[in-house]
Amino acid sequence: MNISDTIKYIGVNDHELDLFEGQYIVPNGMAYNSYVILDDKIAVMDSVDANFFDEWMSKLKEAIGTRKPDYLIVQHMEPDHSANIANFIKEFPEAKIVASAMAFTIMKNFFGTDFPENKMVVGENAKLSLGKHELTFVTAPMVHWPEVIVTYDSFDKVLFSADGFGKFGALDVEDDDGWACEARRYYFGIVGKYGIQVQALLKKVANLEIKTICPLHGPVLNENLKYYLDIYNTWSSYGVEAEGVMIAYTSVYGNTKKAAEILAQKLVDKGCPKVALNDLARGDMAEVVEDAFKYGKVVFATTTYNTEIFPFMRVFIDTLVEHNFQNRTVALIENGSWAPTAAKAMKAKLEKCKNLTFANTSITIKSALTEDNVQQLDALAEELK
Ligand code: FEO
Repeated sequence: MNISDTIKYIGVNDHELDLFEGQYIVPNGMAYNSYVILDDKIAVMDSVDANFFDEWMSKLKEAIGTRKPDYLIVQHMEPDHSANIANFIKEFPEAKIVASAMAFTIMKNFFGTDFPENKMVVGENAKLSLGKHELTFVTAPMVHWPEVIVTYDSFDKVLFSADGFGKFGALDVEDDDGWACEARRYYFGIVGKYGIQVQALLKKVANLEIKTICPLHGPVLNENLKYYLDIYNTWSSYGVEAEGVMIAYTSVYGNTKKAAEILAQKLVDKGCPKVALNDLARGDMAEVVEDAFKYGKVVFATTTYNTEIFPFMRVFIDTLVEHNFQNRTVALIENGSWAPTAAKAMKAKLEKCKNLTFANTSITIKSALTEDNVQQLDALAEELK
């Protein structure tokens, strides 16, 4: 795959990975992207996961022929991109490693050395000329680690965006759900907490003329870039992407599930534009997290457990709070056979979030649904529709 006449794709697809970053299922695999810029000087943009050194190296050598790379640009030190730095330097000992000062600190942690013979530190707006291609480095702290830089090539108008604009899924698998579905799950899982930092990066690159975005995961983006920039703006400002209601529930004997389903049906009947119903114990938690950030209204329905919150709901809410969940309308449904306390406990956690509006209707089920509960569900649907 060529990005331009002089920029080539040398990344790999991983179909063996069970969990990305130790927690995210990747049913369509994962791509670790890497690129090489061929000019008077040759620059390699990041490496790939440790398991793919041979494939990556053979792609690199095929792209450069008998020449040798002058630079390995390390935009991000997470091992899915940086694991092969030492192997690269063994192969090309003359090459310079170009990275932020913080990246070299982390490099020393991983490799026991920061490669003093090869080290080239770059800071905000530092430039590196390869010949025709002039690279400008832009710091992007916490998108997704503190050492991250992104790189702009003014010759081909390419933004190498590190983890930004990345997505789950290998590049040799057709993704029928479109880009946003797995990009959103990736974004909110991995960088969602750092909306302020993503906003800062979007501002820094706003005035660049960008024709192509080359992320470290997912497809190269080269058309309708406004769509991707706009959706990243919505996500990173915790805006509402789609009107609708997301109901997340846990249920032990089916009674809380029944309440969630009745509410969903009532919302549909009342014309709610979209209702997403998620069983936290059986679905992919990361999917539910992305839905909570996608829609403007979220219902939490769960059972009381050890005078607290049922475990899957507790993890879910803690994850949202940790990821800076905000700007939403939320509603609470609790179940408890003798001392229901889950709603109070959920509220105490959610009150840590900025700009949440709690629905007026809060529902307590004592074991099984009553006629009163069904009327309360109707009132809640009326409030949220
Ligand atoms: Fe793709 Fe944060 O590493």
